[in-house]
Amino acid sequence: MENSNNPLALFKLDDKKAIVTGAGRGLGKELALGLAEAGADIAIVDLEEKECSKVVNQIIDIGRKAIAIEADVSKEEDVKNAVYITKAEFGEINILVCNAGIVSWSPAEEMDTKDWQKIIDVNLTGVFLFCKWVAKEMKKQGGGSIINISSMSSIIINIPQKQCHYNASKAGVSHLTKSLAVEWAPYNIRVNAICPGYIMTPLLKLADKKYLDQWISYTPQKRIPDPSEFKGLCIFLASDASNYVTGSAIVADGGYSLW
Ligand SMILES: NC(=O)c1ccc[n+]([C@@H]2O[C@H](COP(=O)([O-])OP(=O)(O)OC[C@H]3O[C@@H](n4cnc5c(N)ncnc54)[C@H](O)[C@@H]3O)[C@@H](O)[C@H]2O)c1
Repeated sequence: MENSNNPLALFKLDDKKAIVTGAGRGLGKELALGLAEAGADIAIVDLEEKECSKVVNQIIDIGRKAIAIEADVSKEEDVKNAVYITKAEFGEINILVCNAGIVSWSPAEEMDTKDWQKIIDVNLTGVFLFCKWVAKEMKKQGGGSIINISSMSSIIINIPQKQCHYNASKAGVSHLTKSLAVEWAPYNIRVNAICPGYIMTPLLKLADKKYLDQWISYTPQKRIPDPSEFKGLCIFLASDASNYVTGSAIVADGGYSLW
């Protein structure tokens, strides 16, 4: 535990080693940059190494170490390999951010079962696989912090778009988080989730303006945030500042889910 005379020291991540999935762009990229700014070295995991490499260079510019790992979070061999590479390069893994996720829209009665399965495989199974393989290392090391990116869609139903598979996958992520928090508390592994509302990432920039206007009108804060605004919450959950927080699914949605 850091010196209590300087509470800000609790948020430092000096020389911690982190994996962030889906960190080639969007929210994952900003969370990776935030963890690096707080002192951590980062393994950037994404589907394409080219995208990862750009973020790696930005982290090196911050003065931290970074590696790019091409992996599909829904494939167990890829996940095992990513964890193996990170451990070999960094020696340990203290922080895991399971951020990779996808969305699509379709009425449930017309949804192709392959689309249902794809969302569950990436958004839910991908989180389970990374948690499983990283927790094995954290257990040996004596602890760590896992942060799963869920969504406000785990507790509300978005409108007007229809995305029952995504909503179900995120409800699964939040409950998986709580289950793992209880299982792994004896090993000093904390497991928490962040449940964001809409965020202005490349994913959302594709949305029609009429949807954006509608979503903003439902949000008490009347705006859609930049992904960099989630850095602080991620650093809090990764650091000693949140030592007694585990199994929480922290909502950060500008008030959307309140009414
Ligand atoms: N943007 C939002 O409004 C919003 C709101 C709530 C929650 N989220 C969640 O935040 C996370 C990040 O979303 P984003 O908006 O930054 O999306 P994004 O599409 O901008 O970025 C997602 C990243 O994940 C990667 N990815 C996708 N499938 C992968 C796989 N199988 N293996 C490895 N990497 C994969 C993509 O290549 C991409 O770089 C997701 O879990 C999403 O559900 C987003």
